[in-house]
Amino acid sequence: MSTTPVEPAEAARQAAFDATIAHHDRIEPRDWMPDGYRKTLIRQIAQHAHSEIIGMQPEGNWIGRAPSLRRKAILLAKVQDEAGHGLYLYSACETLGIARSELVDMLLSGRQKYSSIFNYPTLSYADVGTIGWLVDGAAICNQVPLCRTSYGPYGRAMIRICKEESFHQRQGYELLRTMMDGTDAQRAMVQESVDRFWWPSLMMFGPPDAESPNTEQSMAWGVKRNSNDELRQKFVDMTVPQAQALGVTLPDPALRWNAERDHHDFGEPDWSELTAVIRGNGPCNTERMAHRRAAHEDGAWVREAATAFAARSAAKAGAR
Ligand SMILES: [Fe+2]
Ligand SMILES: [Fe+2]
Repeated sequence: MSTTPVEPAEAARQAAFDATIAHHDRIEPRDWMPDGYRKTLIRQIAQHAHSEIIGMQPEGNWIGRAPSLRRKAILLAKVQDEAGHGLYLYSACETLGIARSELVDMLLSGRQKYSSIFNYPTLSYADVGTIGWLVDGAAICNQVPLCRTSYGPYGRAMIRICKEESFHQRQGYELLRTMMDGTDAQRAMVQESVDRFWWPSLMMFGPPDAESPNTEQSMAWGVKRNSNDELRQKFVDMTVPQAQALGVTLPDPALRWNAERDHHDFGEPDWSELTAVIRGNGPCNTERMAHRRAAHEDGAWVREAATAFAARSAAKAGAR
């Protein structure tokens, strides 16, 4: 008699999945999941992983020109963390049954995207501070709810990532604080940097809810826990008092406290700019992808060596 368990019917598997989601429990790699859920997760986790890796470039641009050994050490650690985030996320994505080489291929061929924010240039050292404060700050708003996402490996990766992101945000704020306590020229540099990064940071939360067709399904699956507009509002409310403490002006004349709503009102980002950047026409899209492709080709010998080493180790283990 066969001991293989009888596969439960499709309906029963779907019911078990729905019950797990309803109880806010985790879906794990070996559990049955609908195809759409798997595809949505692969797309979201891969896009997140690609963003971490491409995101090393704007700040990496300043490692060789950091103004002191201390600043260089901080920046190196920060950029290295982002590489680590990429690795955790590629690993989490692979548990969904897709190979890392395939994910990298989709990035390099433009079939998968990364966050639009990394297509903006870093023109001054103040940008290192502004990216930490605003870009990592926005990433934290986006990512803290993902620690409770329904897919286990993704949620667990996010817990560690969020701890490191909060270090990134603090180091950015501290850098800007130091510059704001410096000369007029340094204060002007900070303000100019904040002026450039404010609107692109707001766009990091994605299009308005009304134009975000996947949000509803992602929230029903517990992949996403808050809508784009909710997170954007949270980020604005969190950032305004920090800007005041820092002594910088956020470049939005419509920004004001609304006591009735108990939130800040703020202006509408230029959504046509986000569309253009996503389509590949941001200031640095071409440069970022060219750099990534060159780095991938330069690393070919490492992948070959690692593959050869793994094959030899496996053969040795087999011989024993
Ligand atoms: Fe990161
Ligand atoms: Fe970060």
